[in-house]
Amino acid sequence: MTQHLLDQLRQICGAANVLTHDDPATDLSPWEQDWRKRVCGRALAVVRPGDTAQVAAVVKACAAVGTSIVPQGGNTGLVVGGVPNGSGSQIVLSMTRMNAVRAIDPANLTITVEAGCVLQNLQAAAEQAGFLFPLSLGAEGSCTIGGNLGTNAGGTQVVRYGNTRELCLGLEVVTAQGEVWHGLSGLRKDNTGYDLRNLMIGSEGTLGIITAATMKLYPLPAAQLTAWAAVPSMAAAVQLLGLAHKRLGPGLTGFEVMGQFALSLVDKHYPQLRVPLWQETPWCVLLENSDSESESHAREQFEALLEAALEQGYASDAVVAENLTQAKGLWHIRESITLAQATEGLNIKHDISIPVSRIPDFVAETDALLAREVPGVRMVDFGHLGDGNLHYNVQAPEGADGKAFLREFEDKVNTLVFDQVKRFGGSISAEHGVGEQKVHKLPHYKDPTALAMMRAVKQALDPQNLLNPGRVLA
Ligand code: FAD
Ligand code: MLT
Ligand code: ZN
Repeated sequence: MTQHLLDQLRQICGAANVLTHDDPATDLSPWEQDWRKRVCGRALAVVRPGDTAQVAAVVKACAAVGTSIVPQGGNTGLVVGGVPNGSGSQIVLSMTRMNAVRAIDPANLTITVEAGCVLQNLQAAAEQAGFLFPLSLGAEGSCTIGGNLGTNAGGTQVVRYGNTRELCLGLEVVTAQGEVWHGLSGLRKDNTGYDLRNLMIGSEGTLGIITAATMKLYPLPAAQLTAWAAVPSMAAAVQLLGLAHKRLGPGLTGFEVMGQFALSLVDKHYPQLRVPLWQETPWCVLLENSDSESESHAREQFEALLEAALEQGYASDAVVAENLTQAKGLWHIRESITLAQATEGLNIKHDISIPVSRIPDFVAETDALLAREVPGVRMVDFGHLGDGNLHYNVQAPEGADGKAFLREFEDKVNTLVFDQVKRFGGSISAEHGVGEQKVHKLPHYKDPTALAMMRAVKQALDPQNLLNPGRVLA
C-alpha cells in the first residue's frame, strides 16, 4: 500500500519531488527537524508539489489510504507544528516550490502570491512595484507566506498594521478532501456567510492547505526613523508607549522592548553588533516612526517625543539612527536575540499576551515566583510591547546542564507562567501558535466552549483527521 501511494505521488509531482529515506544520498533532516532542534520526526516522504492541482491530487491520494499530511513552509515555526511525528508514516507537504507572485493590482492595493513565497521575496516584490508589504519578522529570509498565514504570524509591525490575518483579503485552499476552494478575493467587504478565510488563518495546517493568498499593500512611507531608548522600568516603557501613540498616531510602526539579560546575550555572542545603552538600564525600547510627509517632519516629531520622554522620566537616554544603515543595525540587534538565546543553550520559550496596562505587574510578580521556584533562573524577556506580546523566556541558571534543566523544570515553569497569564487575562500564545508544544496545555487555558467549537470545526472539515493531526487539538 505504501509503495503504491509513493508511486502515485511520484506520478503526480514527478519522481524528483518525492524524497524518501530509501535513497541513502537524500538527507530529510531539514524537513524533519524543527527550528529549535527540540524534535526530529521521521517522514514517509517529503513531497514537493509544483501547483495547486498537484496539491489537490496529493491530498486525494493520501486521503484514499488514510495517510496524514503535515504542510510545511520555511520550517521556521517555533512550536513544533510543521515537522512530522516520529511514526515514519506521515508525508511532509513542502510548499516551497510554489513561490510565484501571481499578480499585483496597484489600484486595489493587493498582491496575490503562492503559499511558498518567502516573506522577504514578497516584501521585495511589493517594494519593486512601489508599495509596502508590512509583515516583518526575524525569520523573513526563510519563512513563507503560507506559514505566516498558517500561524497568523505577528512580528514587529503589528502595532500599526496588525498581524498576518489583518493583511489578508483572500485565500486559495485545498481541503482535506482534495477539493480546491477558490477564495482569492481582493474584496475588503464580503458578508456572504461564515468567514472561512479567518477560519483557515491561524489553523496551523489542521483545516486546509493554503496554496495562494491575496494580501494587502500599503503606500511606502516617505521616511522611516528608528530610535533606541534606555528606560528605567517596565512601567516606564508602558508610559513611553502611551506617549508615542499620542505623539505619533499611526506613524508609530514599531515598539519593541528588550530586557538587559536578553541584550547581554547578544553582546556576548555577537559583540560586533555593538548593542547600545544596555549596561546602564534594565530595559531598552526600539521605536519606529514611519512618516508620510518627509524625513525632516519625521525627525522633528520623533525628537520632540524623545525629549518629552526624557523630561517625564519615561526614558533615561536615547539615540536616533542617523541613516538607514544605522537603523538596520539597531533592528538587527533586536532580531538577533532569538539566535543569541539559542546559542546560549536550551531554554523554555513563552509567547504570551497580556493587556499592555497589566504587563508591569505581571512581570514583577512572575519574576519573583520564578526566582523562588527555580533558583538562579535567568529571564530572557523581550518582545512586541506595543501589542502586549512578551517573549517571556526562561534560561537555565549559569553553568547548568540544559537538558537536565528542561527535564526538571519545563513543565513546572510552563504551568507557573501560564497560570499567571490566565490570572492576568492573557493568552498562552500571542503569535507562534499551539503546534505540538502547547497542545496538552491548551485545554487548561482555553474556554471549554471555544475548545468544543474548535473540535466541531475540525471534525466537520477534516473528519479523517488527516491534516496535521495532533497539532492545535490533541
Ligand atoms: P512552517 O514552520 O513551515 O509551518 C508553521 C505552521 O504552519 C505549521 O503548523 C505548518 O503545518 C503550517 N503551514 C505551513 N505552510 C502552510 C500552508 N501552505 N498551508 C497551511 N498550513 C501551513 N513568529 C512570529 O509570529 N513573530 C515573530 O516575530 C517571529 N520571529 C521569528 C524569528 C526567528 C529567528 C524564527 C526562527 C522564528 C520566528 N517566528 C516568529 C516564528 C516563525 O517564523 C513563524 O511562525 C512563521 O510564520 C512560520 O512560517 P514558515 O513558513 O516557516 O512555516
Ligand atoms: C521574535 O519576536 O523575535 C520572535 O517571535 C522569535 C522568538 O520568540 O524568539
Ligand atoms: Zn515575536
